Amino acid sequence: MTDGSRIPGFYRLPLAERLALVAERSGVASAELEEALRRGGLDAEKADKLVENVLGTYALPFGVALNVRVNERDHLVPMVVEEPSVIAAASNAARMIRASGGFHAEVGEALMTAQVQIVNVRDPAEAVAHLVSAQPKLMELARAAVPNLLARGGGPREIEVRDLGSGMIVLHVYVDCRDAMGANLVNSIAEAIGPSAAELARGVLGLRILSNLCDRRLVRVRCRVHPRDLGLAAKPTHAHERPSLDPPSERPRVAASEPPPAPGQTWVDGGFVAERIVLASRFAELDPYRAATHNKGVMNGVDAVVLASGNDFRAVEAGAHAYAARSGRYAPLVVWRRDGEDLTGELEMPLALGTVGGTLRVHPVAQVALKLMRVTGADELAQVAASVGVASNLAALRALATEGIQRGHMSLHARSVAVAAGALGGEVELVALAIAEQGSITVEAASRALATLRVPAS
Ligand code: MEV
Repeated sequence: MTDGSRIPGFYRLPLAERLALVAERSGVASAELEEALRRGGLDAEKADKLVENVLGTYALPFGVALNVRVNERDHLVPMVVEEPSVIAAASNAARMIRASGGFHAEVGEALMTAQVQIVNVRDPAEAVAHLVSAQPKLMELARAAVPNLLARGGGPREIEVRDLGSGMIVLHVYVDCRDAMGANLVNSIAEAIGPSAAELARGVLGLRILSNLCDRRLVRVRCRVHPRDLGLAAKPTHAHERPSLDPPSERPRVAASEPPPAPGQTWVDGGFVAERIVLASRFAELDPYRAATHNKGVMNGVDAVVLASGNDFRAVEAGAHAYAARSGRYAPLVVWRRDGEDLTGELEMPLALGTVGGTLRVHPVAQVALKLMRVTGADELAQVAASVGVASNLAALRALATEGIQRGHMSLHARSVAVAAGALGGEVELVALAIAEQGSITVEAASRALATLRVPAS
């Protein structure tokens, strides 16, 4: 796909047309797409095989983010999320980034960490020395635990021994899990080498489990945005009474895709928006209270892709926040700076995702999501998910740095309230507009608006 993820007006199309268009663009058969998505893809019987005490299933919206270009490749990116505006906002920010070349993403070594805890170690220095010199034997045991992974070209790569003090030693085995997330593989290795490791350390065997702080499975994303793509029409607020913190670098102009200012709105210059986004990023760097919310915005995008692709979002969340706190001070996962006129963004975070195994084996929607995304493997999936995280963060900061997020949120919220009141098809937009204008976004107001709308014209 080159322009395959750019579909202007997509959100206005009826659902059936959206499905047909996505099938055409992605090459996934529309029957397969529709079949997978019907009733959320998972029936109670299948769910019963997945977890315990099953009563039924719980569906969430499945949408696609548009405009996402990563390393010169276009992707339609499936997102599973219940929060209004997340998908629209990520698509919108991805369009701005795309205009300046898209996302540049990389993963370095993709190693998961197995941990073996050994306690009651009387002579930790001697234990470390024994474990270090027994590396070949331990590696052999680790390899024997994962023959199928070896056959796929993965396997244990390195051993590290850490003395945690108080007679506690921890052994790490770094494992290349290829296209699997790797939790089962890594746990098998930890359990296989645990007894020998404890014996070598002359201690008592403790936990044997993977670490979700997979700081040797990092993804990095860089992007830039030209100020011309950041400007927007907004209601004047105190925040942008001053036209710009910098002298405007160019005459404000309306970006092609942005509506011109409506009555009561003013044009907020892109250079000003860029400057405010840098200040917002700085805020997150200086204050963990803000960093937590900043990162929530990043994870809005990342988690939605993680969920759509059938991956373990709790593992991803645990790793992301532990990594954000690695310096001892909780920090933002994405930072924004100016480079000349441009705004530049950089993300670094651990992201352990799989394109084989796990939920993917049983969940037809996860399977179809990967096909839609056209990723070649787990590394590319991580690059795409992280890029959508950057887009979500940019969209949130752009809104927060100008008119705030409530107006956009409210108009989308109004749509779900209209649906809750029973609006169908084209009625949804009309009812949403009516209740948003009234400033009373409640199901009662929506029901009244719907009743008025349905009164036959006399
Ligand atoms: C809401 O889901 C996410 C935001 O709070 C993120 C942020 O504040 O940057 C808007």
